[in-house]
Amino acid sequence: MRLDKFLADSALGSRSEIKNVIKKGGVTVNSAVIKDSAFKVTENDSVTYMGQPVFYTPFIYLMMNKPSGVISATEDKTKKTVLSLIDKKYAHYDLFPVGRLDIDTVGLLLISNDGEMAHKALSPKSHVEKTYYVETEKEITEEDRTAFTEGVYIAGGTKTLPAELNILSSKSANLTICEGKFHQVKLMFESRGNKVTYLKRIRFGNLTLDESLKEGEYRPLKPDESVF
Ligand code: URA
Repeated sequence: MRLDKFLADSALGSRSEIKNVIKKGGVTVNSAVIKDSAFKVTENDSVTYMGQPVFYTPFIYLMMNKPSGVISATEDKTKKTVLSLIDKKYAHYDLFPVGRLDIDTVGLLLISNDGEMAHKALSPKSHVEKTYYVETEKEITEEDRTAFTEGVYIAGGTKTLPAELNILSSKSANLTICEGKFHQVKLMFESRGNKVTYLKRIRFGNLTLDESLKEGEYRPLKPDESVF
């Protein structure tokens, strides 16, 4: 592939910034300075960018603490999207949110360009567990816990799979579900005559929200972090 694509795929900057650095002699391939952006390289070549070795990274995985008021979409005519919060150095990656959180839901949202991983993470067959911290209008009861374990009927008459409710206080709990029906958590509490007033996702499969991320902030996953 072209040298500028190789470097852009490694999230080193925008294509134009990268081309500039190449032109100025800031890039070496196998120890030789290369000033041609179209120079062909492979993953086996040893490339440096402004003196630093480059590790080719075609797939990007970002953990975001989604803020309220933005939608989990790549683009929208009227509303601000989660992708508008991502630095332009990732612009050429075709990133998308892996799954959806409601506009007023905050917390863990994975943003990636890895379609295969996303498909697996979102497939109902995978039963990926998601944990939500929930605050409600009315008291959460032991009966709610039993009902969620057994499954409740939500919009459209579908029954939810067994879910685990861990009551934290009279009006707060952690709820773990292994499916992702539209507005599922809100509808589950609605089916119990209650109303969700605050919803935050804190776990997605093996990923746990990094609480040091402020709402709207994100960071790449660490090598030992993944959904599965
Ligand atoms: N369940 C909901 O009701 N909303 C979300 O955003 C996620 C799960």
